[in-house]
Amino acid sequence: MLKRKDLLGLYDLSAEEIDEILTTGASMKKLLRQNIKKLPHLQGRSVTTLFYENSTRTRCSFELAAKYMGAHAVNIAAESSSVKKGETLVDTGKTLDAMKNDVIVIRHPMGGAPRLLANTVKAHVVNAGDGMNEHPSQALLDMLTMRENFPSIQGLTVAILGDIRHSRVAKSNLFGLKKLGATVKMYAPRTLIPKDIDKMGAVVCRSREEAVEGADVVMGLRIQLERQHGGLFPSLGEYAKYYGVTEEIMKYAKPNALVMHPGPVNRGVELTSGLIDGETSRIEEQVLSGIAVRMAILFLLTKEEL
Ligand code: CP
Repeated sequence: MLKRKDLLGLYDLSAEEIDEILTTGASMKKLLRQNIKKLPHLQGRSVTTLFYENSTRTRCSFELAAKYMGAHAVNIAAESSSVKKGETLVDTGKTLDAMKNDVIVIRHPMGGAPRLLANTVKAHVVNAGDGMNEHPSQALLDMLTMRENFPSIQGLTVAILGDIRHSRVAKSNLFGLKKLGATVKMYAPRTLIPKDIDKMGAVVCRSREEAVEGADVVMGLRIQLERQHGGLFPSLGEYAKYYGVTEEIMKYAKPNALVMHPGPVNRGVELTSGLIDGETSRIEEQVLSGIAVRMAILFLLTKEEL
């Protein structure tokens, strides 16, 4: 059982806690592969997804995860809620508490919003992505996918290329992978590399070739057009040509190195279409891992409470 009320980021989690989530996620994934979608783990619970930013994968998979385990699941899209009438995040949280809601899964454009909510509500809070801070369930599903394709995450080399500066996925993966003993290499235009990411444990590379050399996994990250405020790189075409992951660049990786991407992908920008749809791609498998790992998170946070 996770001995914490909330899941806010992988910076906070121990290697043992990450391992527990991945082990439980692997069991959930086995059930999903057998098409078992009626489980009792969350019977009598209610889960609300509260999304202040767009999402397909994360929102849908948290909702399905809750429903597959028997919970009452509802979604609040900020655009169509009382947030539009001026209600604060804390007051929205208190309203959900008053409705006897057990878990709030929140995505918010401001880093730290899930922590503020967690400090003020009784419900468990799960961070589904906060600004440029963390996206813990994404990194956990990435690690589950890696763990199923290699004997261990310990000793793996993972190359992350793309918009690292704006990426909460990059940070959560860095924290989680380092805790499990992997090496994390990063490459992007200098304008898309956050200052001090090396001090957090990343190996910052000077070329695509250096980043991908000897990698077991090559992860592309989306160019976040909505968070670019001008002039960080010349054009998407030039990004693809000089910084994108291509079949040529993959030759520097280990034979059969895996290609991953959290999605949504800008096809032909971060990765070529051939790599996205190719044999070494694990992008669709990441989506299934997403439901499994979110089932594990919801179950482990609420277990033994009723
Ligand atoms: N990877 C990810 O967070 O995707 P969504 O924005 O579709 O949830």
